[in-house]
Amino acid sequence: MVGVMFEGIALPPLARGTLLPVPERLARLDEALPQIRAVLDGEQDAIAVQSTLACLLWQTLAQTNWCGFYRRISERTLAVGPYQGAMGCLRIDLARGVCGACATTQQVQRVPDVSLFPGHIACDSRTRSELVVPIVQGGRVHAVLDLDSPELDAFSREEATRLVALVFDVFANVTF
Ligand code: SME
Repeated sequence: MVGVMFEGIALPPLARGTLLPVPERLARLDEALPQIRAVLDGEQDAIAVQSTLACLLWQTLAQTNWCGFYRRISERTLAVGPYQGAMGCLRIDLARGVCGACATTQQVQRVPDVSLFPGHIACDSRTRSELVVPIVQGGRVHAVLDLDSPELDAFSREEATRLVALVFDVFANVTF
């Protein structure tokens, strides 16, 4: 077939860096979520799920300049996993940064202004807000989903709630 390309999930195109108002961001996310769930249905391989989520959340969340995963490779260390965006730090000590705080506390970290977060790791100096979601199985954090934006307050509570539910469901049967 000529001229037919699969371009991920069906969403209106949006320029990278666009920060829509919250209701429009939620509408876009709600359009994307069932499609993302359908794509990942039944997939149990951690890298397949992480890579595909990095790709599709990057497409969905146009406000991001980094979208991907850090994987827990030891008690104290996260290593970078599948992602989209400019190069990220390769390793993060659990004692450091927003990702470390998320992995240590097992709590979502929504940081509207990273300059106010003690110990924030500036892999990319343009990043101004972040959302980090833990991926927990059997009481242990196996990875974190890290979303960064060059805009302040780019991730609302409502987006966080939806992404927590997504991550919970799509990683439930993944083998780490
Ligand atoms: N922002 C993260 C570091 C990872 S990178 O920016 C991709 C943090 O403070 O944990």
